[in-house]
Amino acid sequence: MQFYSVLLLVSLLLLLTISEASYPPVCTSGFTLINGKCLRIFVDVSTHTAAEKTCKGYGATLVTVKNSIDNRAIADFTGNNANLFWMGLYCFDSDVSKCLWDDATGSAEVYDNFAAGFPHIALGNCVYYSVQGALAGMWLSSDCNDRRSFICELPASHADPCPYNYNGFCYTFHNTASTYTKGQKICEQECGNLASIHSANENRYIMTFGGRATKEDLLLGGMWPADDVYNWVDGSLWEYENFDPINVRDSVCVIMSNGDSRPIALGMWYSGECKNEYSVVCKRPAGIQCPPNPTIVPVTPMPAVQSFCNSSVMAPSEITSPHFPYNYYNSDFCSYQISTLGSYNVLLRFSTFDTEKVNDVVTVYDGDSTNDPVIGVYAGSFYPFTVISTGNKMLVTFKTDKSNTRQGFSGRITSYSTTESGERD
Ligand SMILES: *[C@@H]1O[C@H](CO)[C@@H](O)[C@H](O)[C@H]1NC(C)=O
Repeated sequence: MQFYSVLLLVSLLLLLTISEASYPPVCTSGFTLINGKCLRIFVDVSTHTAAEKTCKGYGATLVTVKNSIDNRAIADFTGNNANLFWMGLYCFDSDVSKCLWDDATGSAEVYDNFAAGFPHIALGNCVYYSVQGALAGMWLSSDCNDRRSFICELPASHADPCPYNYNGFCYTFHNTASTYTKGQKICEQECGNLASIHSANENRYIMTFGGRATKEDLLLGGMWPADDVYNWVDGSLWEYENFDPINVRDSVCVIMSNGDSRPIALGMWYSGECKNEYSVVCKRPAGIQCPPNPTIVPVTPMPAVQSFCNSSVMAPSEITSPHFPYNYYNSDFCSYQISTLGSYNVLLRFSTFDTEKVNDVVTVYDGDSTNDPVIGVYAGSFYPFTVISTGNKMLVTFKTDKSNTRQGFSGRITSYSTTESGERD
């Protein structure tokens, strides 16, 4: 027991060291790091639409400016290369609150630096930046068909030789037709998961490069195993979605359209059958070393694993129904007290879940007792899914009735920090 605790502690410390190693920010595709984001100047003039298209080709947007420091940095960065640059801002009306950023972060109401009398849509809806002269640093609007230089913007990432490195993550695209299970396996071999998406920019990036690299619609790492419970297989928070408005939620998997095979626009998501085959997009943190030959765990013959039924268990670990991978017993009851270090949340990922519908029930509580709020009640067969506690304790109970047994469940417990997920600009 002593030895086991030490082992747990060591592996926890290792995990912490890996996740907290500080990666110096880097820029890809010839962009330059300015103020924490990556910019690239295109001096040759083009229309606003053509400029946007060029940026999109790098998975980028036209430059956005959210504060006065960014605004000054642009003037310093562009120097004497050109004077007038398109920005990623479009005004529907001559009112700052009607000017929207290309990266879907809302209007310029929070910060703007329009010259007096602007935006002025009688002159045009597209916004540009003036570097020199009396209007240096100011924004103006003009006809979107005017031709100007422009600046593209990408988020900074971590150093990694992977070909698709964006905002701290590496993406890979696989043309191999894959079901959900097969797709996730492909991604796990690269130390990643089927991709989660957390912003319009990330969606655009995956759509742009995934669309080029693959033939079929793209399988993402999203799941909705139960009503209104959405989750990402990598355990990150569900904080963004891009479902096609005509999507009917009739299946469990989340697919991104490549605009070809369905009447669903490129980059929009729809609900798809997990057993159907799609192209695959994987995502892993940039800068991690993936062992070249991941150890293959032999599966036959399988001894029943330690279940932790009626025990306390500390992350990282694994809990299963009794007797797993063989069927559980009738008229049984188990409780699992799960905890992790104080500053972390408990992430429980059920990789197998197969119980008798309605009658053999797993209940997950957000705390250490049955008086705490219920995160979910699950009975039946589900694809892998994830539940996360809001604190550092989770209670799982499993109750079976007196007839019919099935394989049961197996779930991996890890520590999870809600503040580390996703991307923040
Ligand atoms: C777990 O504890 C409950 C009582 O709290 C008991 O009824 C049940 O049989 C125990 N399960 C196992 C597998 O030991």
